Amino acid sequence: MPDPLEDKQIVLGVCGGIAAYKAADFLRLLVKSNANIRVIMTKAAQAFVGPVTFEALSGHPVWTRMFEGRKNGVLRHIRWADEADAAVIIPATANVIGKMAHGIADDPLTTLVLALRAPVLVCPSMNVHMFENTVVQDNMDRLRQVGMHVVGPATGLLACGHEGAGRLADLEAIAEQLRRLLTPQDLAGEQVLVTAGPTQEAIDPVRFISNSSSGKMGYALARVAQRRGAEVVLISGPTTLPDPDGVRAIRVRTAKEMFDAVMAQAGHSTIIIKAAAVSDMRPSKVFQHKVKKAEMGQQWPMEKTDDILKALGETKKDQVLVGFAAETQDLEENARAKLTAKNLDLVVANLVGRNDSGFGSDTNQVSLYYKDGRSEALALMHKSDLADLLLDRVLEIKKNSMPDAG
Ligand code: CTP
Repeated sequence: MPDPLEDKQIVLGVCGGIAAYKAADFLRLLVKSNANIRVIMTKAAQAFVGPVTFEALSGHPVWTRMFEGRKNGVLRHIRWADEADAAVIIPATANVIGKMAHGIADDPLTTLVLALRAPVLVCPSMNVHMFENTVVQDNMDRLRQVGMHVVGPATGLLACGHEGAGRLADLEAIAEQLRRLLTPQDLAGEQVLVTAGPTQEAIDPVRFISNSSSGKMGYALARVAQRRGAEVVLISGPTTLPDPDGVRAIRVRTAKEMFDAVMAQAGHSTIIIKAAAVSDMRPSKVFQHKVKKAEMGQQWPMEKTDDILKALGETKKDQVLVGFAAETQDLEENARAKLTAKNLDLVVANLVGRNDSGFGSDTNQVSLYYKDGRSEALALMHKSDLADLLLDRVLEIKKNSMPDAG
């Protein structure tokens, strides 16, 4: 998917809190995503950071005083509000939260917020006692009631020396929430279960059998599904990737642990996508001590792991079930065999062993095989674009399987 922030008009409202300096970093994140940013600073914000910083980073003059910038008889707060795709208040102080909750408009930021139709993302940051104050909590409730979105605060050591809720949320998490607000929520109401990464099957305390799956495809699917409004559970084998924001991530190691975790979640999932490269075999015996060289060289008995996807196919009712097939030969034949054997709606098949596709790479080239016999050969694309496309196809499958579908 193209970055939802690209070419979007975002108003950044900076208020007077210690975290005001982080708003400059946040602005840089948005600029990196090619968003157009207009900055408004409250008077108090300017006591913490100078407008010049934001002017240089956004490439536009910063709005600091109410009665400046009249053009063609149109007041700036109306023009900026009309043109905005979203506004972010960062850091949102108790004062500005209180004013927004009660319709007070006594500076450029609070005036613009009243005129805004686009989504507003409020990122509170303040002392924990201020944040926990009933008045502030009531005001936060009011903001949610009127449809504003809130991210954070995070918990931890605060600049004032207290410990607790009051830290500005992680900037990436704020950006991700903003992306979600700018993305059509066509997966709202869906419970998506994604598996990702390899599994590791222990031989002894230091050795295991695994494969080179990076988890990138599954994580992209989880992130994009979340962005499009789904409730997402990601069950992942060991990877170096961070948990995607807003996704419930369950980390497992072995095929058995993945089996148990998937089965516990499957019942309430409406869409299941099994992108994990599950180990097909595991050593029959796990040594409790590190195996010595002298003990090696003999045959190591192996046994099959349970096929998670097959088990899901056997119990499947209304779910859409998507499997992956990583092959080194006879792609179509093998993929179609998996489609039938595992009772899938769709198989995403790719030839592995290339540098630009499959395991580890950021891009993937796959062919899709559908239950009704259709197939689709896709071009090489970024894994997040592929994730979007696969979720489009899943929605089509869902639509076509509705009882009244023509
Ligand atoms: N899979 C699974 N559980 C396993 C093995 C595989 O759920 N124990 C799932 C994978 O997540 C993937 C699909 O099955 O979605 C294809 O896995 P793959 O190993 O390529 O296929 P297999 O069915 O194991 O067949 P083969 O090894 O014969 O190619």
